Amino acid sequence: MKHLLEISQLSCDDVKHLLARAQFFKQNSVQDYPQYPHQTMANLFYECSTRTRISFEMAAKHLGMHVVNVDIERSSESKGEMLEDTILTLFSMGIKTFVLRHQKNGCPKAIVSALPSGLHIINAGDGAHEHPSQALLDLLTITEYKPNLDALKIVVVGDLLHSRVANSLQHLCALMGVSDLVLVAPEQWYPRTLIYGRLTSSLSEALHNADVVMTLRIQNERLQSGEFLDINHYRQQYAITQKTIAWAKPDVMVMHPGPVNRGIELDSDVADGPRSSILEQVKNGVYMRMAILDTILSKTL
Ligand code: CP
Repeated sequence: MKHLLEISQLSCDDVKHLLARAQFFKQNSVQDYPQYPHQTMANLFYECSTRTRISFEMAAKHLGMHVVNVDIERSSESKGEMLEDTILTLFSMGIKTFVLRHQKNGCPKAIVSALPSGLHIINAGDGAHEHPSQALLDLLTITEYKPNLDALKIVVVGDLLHSRVANSLQHLCALMGVSDLVLVAPEQWYPRTLIYGRLTSSLSEALHNADVVMTLRIQNERLQSGEFLDINHYRQQYAITQKTIAWAKPDVMVMHPGPVNRGIELDSDVADGPRSSILEQVKNGVYMRMAILDTILSKTL
């Protein structure tokens, strides 16, 4: 694996390797970790991030790498330099691994062909297209508690139209044989293309017998005219609350990729309650990103 651009580049065995490697990192301590002291990773984030950027930084440091966080607003891109030239410039300084978050759909894949073969691009979220490392850490979290994917009902609820998390998760559920993936949203926020699973606008129907419910943030920054919904109306129909979560299985896992808008898509007493796996997702993000970096740098796949 030279780059991580999208889930569809992975095979089922690749995903199993990444899950096993992430578990290895979770169960062992730093003296057991492989070290890459001559490698430097650059974080290139053109959109805001807390979890993804910092967990890639933590992951790289656990693996003995150096990390450069590029301040895009103060970089020479403000003088008109292109992204490709920024990467080439940093590559010339010896940086070979680039974690890229960009607002443009398909940006990481599009630039790879214009770049030298010796560098690695990891997609940390591109527009409304994909967020592959998020889907992988979500799968790691699910399989820790509910390993039988062929007997699982996973429900994803929220702004599907703009969700790169939902897109990557659909690809991953299809690849790994999740038996029932249900995508819930008001029809206005149905995805343009259904990758895997089934769509419904009924939260009660979707949550019946659900093993996992993944709530999504309303992506206000991506909403176009005609796509805005009344928040109170949305809450009444789609919020995950103590009342609505009772429609799912008693041991349902409540997940959210973050950032959470408490009191909108998810109530605090559920987000902080015993069924919530949200902070476990964050924790697993470091281990999965270690697995991704290690797999790329060790040329295991
Ligand atoms: N889930 C996620 O991508 O969070 P951040 O935007 O904080 O990185």
